[in-house]
Amino acid sequence: RILILDFGSQVTQLIARRVRESGVYCEIWPFNADPARIAGFGPRGIILSGGPASVLDAGAPRIPNEVFALGVPVLGICYGQQAMCAQLGGAVETHEHQEFGRAHVEVLEDSALLRGIWQRGAREQVWMSHGDRVTRLPPGFRAVAVSPGAPFAIIADEGRRLYGVQFHPEVVHTPHGAALLRNFTHDVAGCRGNWTMAGFRDLEIERIRAQVGKGRVICGLSGGVDSSVAAVLIHEAIGDQLTCIFVDHGMLRAGEAEEVVTTFRGRFNIRLIHRDASDLFIDALAGVTDPEIKRKTIGRLFIEVFDEEAKTLGGADFLAQGTLYPDVIESVSFTGGPSVTIKSHHNVGGLPATMRMQLVEPLRELFKDEVRVLGRELAIPESIVGRHPFPGPGLAIRIPGDIDREKLDVLRKVDTIFLEEIRAAGLYDAIWQAFAVLLPVRTVGVMGDGRTYDRACALRAVTSTDGMTAEVYPFDMGFLTRTAGRIVNEVRGVNRVTYDITSKPPGTIEWE
Ligand code: XMP
Repeated sequence: RILILDFGSQVTQLIARRVRESGVYCEIWPFNADPARIAGFGPRGIILSGGPASVLDAGAPRIPNEVFALGVPVLGICYGQQAMCAQLGGAVETHEHQEFGRAHVEVLEDSALLRGIWQRGAREQVWMSHGDRVTRLPPGFRAVAVSPGAPFAIIADEGRRLYGVQFHPEVVHTPHGAALLRNFTHDVAGCRGNWTMAGFRDLEIERIRAQVGKGRVICGLSGGVDSSVAAVLIHEAIGDQLTCIFVDHGMLRAGEAEEVVTTFRGRFNIRLIHRDASDLFIDALAGVTDPEIKRKTIGRLFIEVFDEEAKTLGGADFLAQGTLYPDVIESVSFTGGPSVTIKSHHNVGGLPATMRMQLVEPLRELFKDEVRVLGRELAIPESIVGRHPFPGPGLAIRIPGDIDREKLDVLRKVDTIFLEEIRAAGLYDAIWQAFAVLLPVRTVGVMGDGRTYDRACALRAVTSTDGMTAEVYPFDMGFLTRTAGRIVNEVRGVNRVTYDITSKPPGTIEWE
């Protein structure tokens, strides 16, 4: 196992992800975690992350002495490298030649860290982001590579197995960075690489049991991948101490509510409260046209209904959420532990602020694709594990203008046909998200011998890796015309179909 000490970098979780991808178990601890616990953790190697501080500042975060006392290999990344040098007798300076973005390093010497990837004399692309740099090496270290802005881009003390890199091997812009980290965990630290998601499942189950004890846990279930995986995992850990609350706001896609209920009650035997609150939500949204007011209304009602249901249970000690790493803005506080804020956008319920319960968030270290792997490990059906993301406010934000039951029904029918065609063409998994939008306009058409004056809809399909940016999915024209033909023929009230060809940015994925 590998211990990652976090000095507050935005990309520390990517280090963990690369280590897991190399089949090695790891944990991320804040740099100021109790040093006495480090030896107890028994790491085979320690990675020191980057961070926003400067080692030249008074009170800059320090590497605990235990890290070097253990005698295990250490890899310092960016701030981690600088702190290591400063603490072991080298020197660090702020320099006007800052490096941000792509840079090239020139490899001067071979090193165990570079075995099989970069040879002496090679010029390799890396991703830099630093203002400070090491200017004098501590005793025992050699320079393995240089860059225009960093005389010590890679450093090594092969005897003590201490390494430092000024660049970020964990990001994709350093093409061989994952291989470098793998060299560290496997060749240098001697990890075998036989850790799998099954191992993560077992460990998380132990952690959940330890956190929850005999307490009661409630979990908001939406039918999406994240809350589903969290619920099944927690249920494996604590069985009927878990109750799931599924607030059906009436703005789900066709068949979704039924699927949630049959899957979780029927297949997994999970205690599930299914509250059909569609009347409440749809009535409250009548006449509301402003997107932000729609979102806020839904968020507020969601909390109210959830709260009501939780009260009927007599309360609970813990609230479980399927929060993923990208939903969490985690930063190391230099006085306490990591502090956490959840984007209001994702956390539709806003539950933690209003309900005084401790959070259980077993997925908070994972990325979406890792959650899917875990879901398969837990035997959750592919129809849920592989499902496209769906926004908390549901179809309400796919009907610009005010919503009502009739519009929701029309939209559901269009959406179903679009997704059927995508599945039939074998494209579902190649697309990040695909859905229909019901437009607040009527247009003239001709059907049979008659004139129509009906609704128009838009189809949207994008590819993305994290939802932050997105590209339009390039369907062929045959697919689009076939799908449009089915929609106008099969959905009464729709006589025109358009395809949204806007990428993000400048568009967003959803229309509201
Ligand atoms: P946008 O429209 O901002 O969407 O490009 C990015 C991703 O986030 C989803 N989304 C939401 N998810 N609650 C959610 O849980 C929301 O309020 C919400 N709004 C947008 C959207 O579907 C896409 O995957």
